Amino acid sequence: MIKFENLRFQYSGSSEFALDGINLEIHDGEFIGVIGASGAGKSTLTYAINGTVPHHFKGDFYGAVNVNGLDTVDNYPEDIAAEAGSVFQDIDAQMTATIVEDEILFGLENFGCPREETEDRINEALSALKIEKLRNRNIGTLSGGQKQKTAIAAMIALRPKILVLDEPTGELDPQSSREIFELLKSLNKKYGMTIIIVEQKIMLQCEFADKLLVMDKGKAVHFDTVKNVLKHSEELENMGINCPRIVTLARKLEENGIYSGEYPADLDSAEKMVRQILAETGGKQL
Ligand SMILES: Nc1ncnc2c1ncn2[C@@H]1O[C@H](COP(=O)(O)OP(=O)(O)OP(=O)(O)O)[C@@H](O)[C@H]1O
Ligand SMILES: [Mg+2]
Repeated sequence: MIKFENLRFQYSGSSEFALDGINLEIHDGEFIGVIGASGAGKSTLTYAINGTVPHHFKGDFYGAVNVNGLDTVDNYPEDIAAEAGSVFQDIDAQMTATIVEDEILFGLENFGCPREETEDRINEALSALKIEKLRNRNIGTLSGGQKQKTAIAAMIALRPKILVLDEPTGELDPQSSREIFELLKSLNKKYGMTIIIVEQKIMLQCEFADKLLVMDKGKAVHFDTVKNVLKHSEELENMGINCPRIVTLARKLEENGIYSGEYPADLDSAEKMVRQILAETGGKQL
């Protein structure tokens, strides 16, 4: 479990709190989608989980964060990493090896994976990300998306109990982005891995996450099921978060008295909404 207790953090030299009173509990096995406008504090929240806030990023830190029993002030990021693996927004800063295979291997060695298991884990991670062909490539020559896949492969090879990913599909095409979400969901189901993913791709977040965490100006303004968060679609749009178009459509239909049910979070429920409207109106109002 990850517990934030009235966490406040202000970077040195900054006049505002990047995180401003975060109280949250993230339970084992949850799949959390973090959304929010640029500068809302999403990356800083991930740093507060992996301990780089306050150990690497200096500033004023108040309150407490506890990751699977480890207080992030009393424990170093290296120790917290055994519980919570992170894929950073700045992928280049994350890579330590020159060759793709070594990037995965070094992590396994650092975390004491038995030598006889490493080959299987590397193969499994490369195949999960469909990057077997990149195994011997120099990381410096990879595209942005290939680097992202390598960073994710290196992290999932470690099978952490908690996996925190900060915009891991930013450089990926729509199909690869969906595949990453599918992979994360399968790890979430197979190993009960807790997934915390910061992503702007709202449709994917709505489809795959159990709960959405909405950040705005350093505050966690909503933390609830996707359906419940989408009820605040107008407020989200005012915060600079693009809601799925089907949600905006549902809200407009509601405003016109044509629909009164839940806002659909994915295409299947959008289809149900249309069927419901057709059944109720016989198509007349449309
Ligand atoms: N190293 C730093 N030093 C000073 N201020 C910082 C630093 N990193 C972030 N900030 C500030 O903290 C606030 C939160 O930034 P953060 O990077 O957490 O936002 P974000 O939600 O991840 O944004 P984005 O969507 O652009 O990645 C912003 O006001 C930002 O300018
Ligand atoms: Mg960020």
